[in-house]
Amino acid sequence: MYGDDIEILKRENMNLADKIYIFDTTLRDGEQTPGVALTVDEKIQIAQKLDSLGVDKIEAGFPAASNGELQSNRKIKSLGLDSTIVGLARSSKNDIDAVLDADLDYIHTFIGTSPLHRDYKLKMSKEKIISTAVEAVEYAKDHGLAVEFSAEDATRTERDFLFEIFGEIVDAGADFLDIPDTVGILTPILTRDLLTDIKSSFKTPISVHFHNDFGLATANTLTAIECGANQAHVTVNGMGERTGNTSLEEIVIALHAAYGIDLDIDTTQIYSISEFVARLTGVKMPVNKPIVGDNAFAHESGIHVHGILNNSSTYEPISPELVGHSRKIVLGKHTGANALKSKLKDYHIDLSDEQFDKVFAQIKALGDRGRCVTDDDLKAIALTELGSARETPIKLKGFGLLCGEVVSPTATVKLEIDGVEKETSNTGVGPVDAALNAIRELIQDTMDIELEEYNLEAINGGTDALADVFVISSDNEGNKSTGRAINDDIVMASVLAVLDSINKLILIQRSEINL
Ligand code: KIV
Ligand code: ZN
Repeated sequence: MYGDDIEILKRENMNLADKIYIFDTTLRDGEQTPGVALTVDEKIQIAQKLDSLGVDKIEAGFPAASNGELQSNRKIKSLGLDSTIVGLARSSKNDIDAVLDADLDYIHTFIGTSPLHRDYKLKMSKEKIISTAVEAVEYAKDHGLAVEFSAEDATRTERDFLFEIFGEIVDAGADFLDIPDTVGILTPILTRDLLTDIKSSFKTPISVHFHNDFGLATANTLTAIECGANQAHVTVNGMGERTGNTSLEEIVIALHAAYGIDLDIDTTQIYSISEFVARLTGVKMPVNKPIVGDNAFAHESGIHVHGILNNSSTYEPISPELVGHSRKIVLGKHTGANALKSKLKDYHIDLSDEQFDKVFAQIKALGDRGRCVTDDDLKAIALTELGSARETPIKLKGFGLLCGEVVSPTATVKLEIDGVEKETSNTGVGPVDAALNAIRELIQDTMDIELEEYNLEAINGGTDALADVFVISSDNEGNKSTGRAINDDIVMASVLAVLDSINKLILIQRSEINL
């Protein structure tokens, strides 16, 4: 909350319902995200996580759509979760029977009400729409179902017709009236107008189901709640048709942070369910997705990181722990000395002032070249700096290369290993491979190494570019280390980078450095 004034704001400008229900439709509208299809098992796993998160209702699917849908709805119901399991149905006996067949006791039934839906999709008169919807609600009620009725495309439906059909539906016994903004055309002011009107005309609890076509689904849902909506339809990660639905995490956290309204949701599970849904659906979140994106709690600029390190609230509206996420300090050209010091401390890397200045300069230089400096980069740079002040066990004493069209690439390497000089030649599929094979042969009495990663980048571009080689090597004891070298010769940069990582591995084995 942002202060006591909020209490006054709540009383004077808002008409909050006593209880706000979260109706999650990740498994129904969320699964309608183009390209997404979940297996029965995956739906069950998501339902279990939604239940553990604490949502009030889980729309498990559309039982009449397929046998698989019917089975998954039935299985989810049979889990005996605390959340109410809801099945979607058109306003038809067949669809309602499928919901009953799935053993559900809550139905979400709908019919298109806007002129576009009446004339072009259903080809039904207003009277026919009303009688079909009423019959469906009565049939569902007669079979013991709790009924939520949606007027599909409500926000493009004439207001008087929307109120007329809602009136009939209330008389038929519906338990919830839902307002779908099917193509996401609302704005907060339009939402306020509609919700205020509806809340003053109907006593039946009101639900909202908003789509995100203009990026306003969360803002509109929040406005609807401020105007008395009793329930919000949401999806994890804002999944759903086209640009999606109102995002569960955004609405839950906005209510908590802005108004101190805590729903019965375990917010600490938000990040993990977001990642889980992203993994199963294959729909990755953009880095700047509110609450759950990679950058939601990431900081790079010196000024921000300085503030964050003193008090995280300076540049974070909520703590990452609230949603089970974590803070990330990113290094780059905006990095300040404080951020770098804090990172080095995290990795227990102790640099002298002079070494620190050199590492700081290298990070800024990489940032200026458009590079994002990862934690591995930082460790490599800092440890290289540490290593250069330390006696290395292996020194390169000579290097020669033979290449041509008719000969296999052959490298000759001379190393001094713990004071003893050794030399050998070896071949490979290319010059770098030949050089690495020669090094491997020379150090085989000391250790076996595996090159896990090899990255080559040209700095500055052009044919005279410097080669920047970054490697990760591992030894037979499972230790890993990074190595980096910059040289105007690609093969030499590779040799030096590999030797750099081998020297670190030897120092790790001898417990002289600790990663
Ligand atoms: O967006 C929509 O109109 C829907 C209906 C099925 C309620 O998802
Ligand atoms: Zn929808």
